Amino acid sequence: MGITNKKWILKSRPKGLVEQSNFELIEENLPDIEEDQVLIQTEYLSVDPTQRMWLTDVPGYLPPIQIDEVIRSGGMGRIIQSKNEKFKEGDLVNGFVGWQTHQISDGKGYRIVPELLPIPTMLNVLGLTGVTAYFGLLDIGQPKEGETVLVSGAAGATGSVVAQIAKIKGCNVIGIAGGDEKCEWLNNCGLDHVIDYKNSNARKELQKIATSGIDIYFDNVGGPLLEAVLFQINLNARIVICGSISNYASEEMPVGPRNLSALIIQRARMEGFLVLDYLDRMDEAIQELSKWLMEGKIQHREDIQEGIENCPETLNRLFTGQNLGKQILKI
Ligand SMILES: NC(=O)c1ccc[n+]([C@@H]2O[C@H](COP(=O)([O-])OP(=O)(O)OC[C@H]3O[C@@H](n4cnc5c(N)ncnc54)[C@H](OP(=O)(O)O)[C@@H]3O)[C@@H](O)[C@H]2O)c1
Repeated sequence: MGITNKKWILKSRPKGLVEQSNFELIEENLPDIEEDQVLIQTEYLSVDPTQRMWLTDVPGYLPPIQIDEVIRSGGMGRIIQSKNEKFKEGDLVNGFVGWQTHQISDGKGYRIVPELLPIPTMLNVLGLTGVTAYFGLLDIGQPKEGETVLVSGAAGATGSVVAQIAKIKGCNVIGIAGGDEKCEWLNNCGLDHVIDYKNSNARKELQKIATSGIDIYFDNVGGPLLEAVLFQINLNARIVICGSISNYASEEMPVGPRNLSALIIQRARMEGFLVLDYLDRMDEAIQELSKWLMEGKIQHREDIQEGIENCPETLNRLFTGQNLGKQILKI
């Protein structure tokens, strides 16, 4: 009996949060695999804010997903049949599995992953968001002991790892996140201060807390918060532009920070970066992150939803802030 693949394809481009009607869940019967091919069964999807950008028709660092194409998504899958000498049945593989239950592939773009930890942890701290945190903070931010590091989206997958690496490096760390539960978790992770931006005025709180200024701002959200932070940066500050989630689902062109002159006054550097440029250095990051995990220096949370039918709703959780830690969907 052939295998049936269930897959989500794009039917229309969303405005704001995604809706079921922007997609269609279809079933297809897969043929038998041929020489050099493998059959992969998706086990877990990594649900990432950048997927919302791929749903627009604006060219980015990867091409937009086209109408009728399967939704691109990173994740982990299992090789369940193989006629490719590089893979054997049972191998766990990481790559762009997509919003689908199965696929036939030539294996290109897939990496076999040793199963040393639970898969959700590997997708989180040891996955692309952990690696993003590692290189974004250490390569672009270049923290020094005693400096003040501010992180937005601090209870998220990337932000929570950034904040804890900054603590490991001996920095004074302030996290910004939305809601009591997230802030409490961040306090338990050892951050020096936490600001609940949904229940306070973040700019005023920053003025009270960051009395000696901000040396590094690791920005995951963009928007008005970036402007508020620029008022408080120190001489030679580094602003690491990692993400801008406040703009991804917006139809409006965002209003830029009006106070960029702060960069001149403080001889500060603002720099964007992309984790995909660091793929050849992944092992370095994973080794160090694994060590910190084993030593208990990095706490982590995974928010695991379930079921292929829940792909669209799970993507929205990132934009409504429902996720605590890394958003994952178990297939
Ligand atoms: N440059 C790169 O290579 C790279 C790689 C990976 C990720 N990223 C970026 O890193 C950022 C975090 O990604 P992630 O995967 O770790 O997601 P995440 O932080 O785990 O989840 C997204 C979080 O963003 C916050 N958020 C949503 N809308 C917001 C808004 N309008 N204003 C302020 N905060 C908002 C929510 O937290 P609250 O409840 O606290 O608001 C939500 O939980 C994203 O911008 C992503 O695009 C960049």
